[in-house]
Amino acid sequence: MGTRKLFIRTYGCQMNVYDSERMGSALAADGYEEVATPEEADLVILNTCHIREKAAEKVYSELGRLKPLKAAKPDLQIAVAGCVAQAEGEEITRRQPMVDLVVGPQAYHRLPAMAAKQRATGAAQLDTEFPEEDKFDHLPEKPKARRAPAAFLTVQEGCDKFCAFCVVPYTRGAEVSRPAARVLAEARDLVSRGVREVTLLGQNVNAYHGEGDSGTWSLARLVTELARIEGLERIRYTTSHPNDMTDDLIAAHAAEPKLMPYLHLPVQAGSDRVLKAMNRKHTAEEYIRLIEHIRVARPDIALSGDFITGFPGETEADFEETMALVREVRYASAFSFKYSPRPGTPAASSEQVPEEAKAERLARLQALLTEQQTAFQHSCIGRTLPVLVEKPGRNPGQMVGRSPYLQAVHFDCAADRVGEILPVEITASATNSLAGRAA
Ligand code: 5AD
Ligand code: SF4
Repeated sequence: MGTRKLFIRTYGCQMNVYDSERMGSALAADGYEEVATPEEADLVILNTCHIREKAAEKVYSELGRLKPLKAAKPDLQIAVAGCVAQAEGEEITRRQPMVDLVVGPQAYHRLPAMAAKQRATGAAQLDTEFPEEDKFDHLPEKPKARRAPAAFLTVQEGCDKFCAFCVVPYTRGAEVSRPAARVLAEARDLVSRGVREVTLLGQNVNAYHGEGDSGTWSLARLVTELARIEGLERIRYTTSHPNDMTDDLIAAHAAEPKLMPYLHLPVQAGSDRVLKAMNRKHTAEEYIRLIEHIRVARPDIALSGDFITGFPGETEADFEETMALVREVRYASAFSFKYSPRPGTPAASSEQVPEEAKAERLARLQALLTEQQTAFQHSCIGRTLPVLVEKPGRNPGQMVGRSPYLQAVHFDCAADRVGEILPVEITASATNSLAGRAA
């Protein structure tokens, strides 16, 4: 039999993007080749997200769409990976018996063996355990494939915070940090493949406390050591919790030029009563003081956040406090969502805010956040920003890259400049991108 063909569809967060890449290269080492459509594939993996109900339902609609394909090609294998697999387990094969493999985020290193066993026996395979071993140590990399200039690198996984709305502590498990030496080795390998920028990933990345050469390393220490790698030009990290924003990490934003001036620091809400009910363990005032402190260290830092509207018990007055906090902080970009009750989380069983109120508040909040983002984008016109060239843009002759503030920048430039950091004078702005000319 020839090479087996693999198709992976990724939903949700950046960690899923990273995990999909790693599954792809682990299966490549096992003889699989990635293809562009499910129609060509022998194995289709849906790497799923469970964070909100809408995200979780997407997997079932996609499975519905794959049904005719499976009927026409019975030996096509269908795998559900990621957080829906972890949260729903056997329920998935009950709802959709066409699913052959269910594999949680901690068991990806077992995927090649599971696929082989399913082929041999015809029986659906399920693995949603949290094994002792580090899954990353057992996921082989395809040798020396060239990489795009910006890459993700998981340094920490799981969460111990138990915010009352969130499934992450249940789907990704307890907080675990990868040893620093492994992270450094992976970063060096990425740089040897052409990577210039890494984004360190973790559900609670600034709680990083990996084993280092002499005791435990903080995220600040890790960033400082990564910055010594020659050829690695930019470092980012996401997502952070305000309570883990330690002084050494804030100081790193002042001291380390490779650490980019962009910070995703979710606050979720601006009312102390709601923050307490969410189990966030800080007040709105404490968050605002923290932001001030960070801005002293790095005055130009671009701030981003996450917000939830209509958390159980949120009144109109509480919501106005979220709006007031946003006006005070001034965000460069942000994500905002209606509260979505998740099975098994504490807030799901509380009395719910009516859907119309959630939606109406979300619309008001998003209008304000878009206004702030547009203003930030506009403030960049006339500045010359260093842009890491990533890939071709929409128009011929155009390339697109990222500014230090994570903005997409389009400009005319030769295609062979991918991976270089070029000065670009910003000439125009839109809410989601900038245009400029090579300076
Ligand atoms: N409902 C709505 N938004 C949620 N988030 C997490 N859980 C929920 C939920 N149940 C949002 C939070 C988090 C982001 C990743 O998703 O804002 O920071
Ligand atoms: Fe979820 Fe983030 Fe809270 Fe952890 S800190 S429970 S991942 S929202």
